[in-house]
Amino acid sequence: MNRDDLKRTVARGYDKVGEAYGLMATRSRTVQRSRYETVVLDRLPEGARVLDLGCGSGVPTTRRLARRFEVTGIDISEKQVELARLNVPKATFIQADMADLDFPAESFDGVTAYYSIIHLPRDEQGPVLGRIATWLRPGGLFVCSLGTHSNEVDYDRSWMGAPMFWSGFDSATNRKLVEESGFRIVRAREETTTTNHETETFLWIIAEKLAGSISGP
Ligand SMILES: C[S@@+](CC[C@H](N)C(=O)[O-])C[C@H]1O[C@@H](n2cnc3c(N)ncnc32)[C@H](O)[C@@H]1O
Repeated sequence: MNRDDLKRTVARGYDKVGEAYGLMATRSRTVQRSRYETVVLDRLPEGARVLDLGCGSGVPTTRRLARRFEVTGIDISEKQVELARLNVPKATFIQADMADLDFPAESFDGVTAYYSIIHLPRDEQGPVLGRIATWLRPGGLFVCSLGTHSNEVDYDRSWMGAPMFWSGFDSATNRKLVEESGFRIVRAREETTTTNHETETFLWIIAEKLAGSISGP
């Protein structure tokens, strides 16, 4: 599959399963999700500009963040963006591939990317981290979940009922990529959950954009 096919697979997949995923997200991995939402809520002031990359249908995370912040949500799936606009009327949503996005430098105080960068082909993940650093003001907050194993192509013909694609690096490489993109890692921790007898581990990173760093493409 070429790059466009992979992107289409992910976008169409979430067009199909996004609503069910949103429901599932309100019920599983809730401790971790809530912990990393709280990190953002505690660290940024009311009214902060927050970019939520791969926001899905807006529930539960974008909605919680939008109660306190001025949130822009980005998602590649048309259907997810449609649902997000209904679920979180207070936030702004844009349908786009996060790898193709462009914002002026220092447009945001915080960027979140929960379970979404893992859907980018992994050669795009480092460059996207660099651009996130560019969009953040110095000292800005970045919170994301990344993979823990090196896997260039992880493809499931029927994930929740639709074909799906993921890709990623091991935890040490992910930490290095984040640091090389112009961030200071505040905390990076592998977190494991078991849902329906399935165990999953993600690397959760809390990072701050280094003041005076030169980053981005
Ligand atoms: C696993 S869901 C997570 C949704 C939400 N962040 C959450 O934590 O519930 C991944 C989301 O990322 C979106 N996504 C995947 N690849 C993307 C890309 N290249 N650009 C923007 N969004 C993307 C998907 O459409 C999907 O809604």
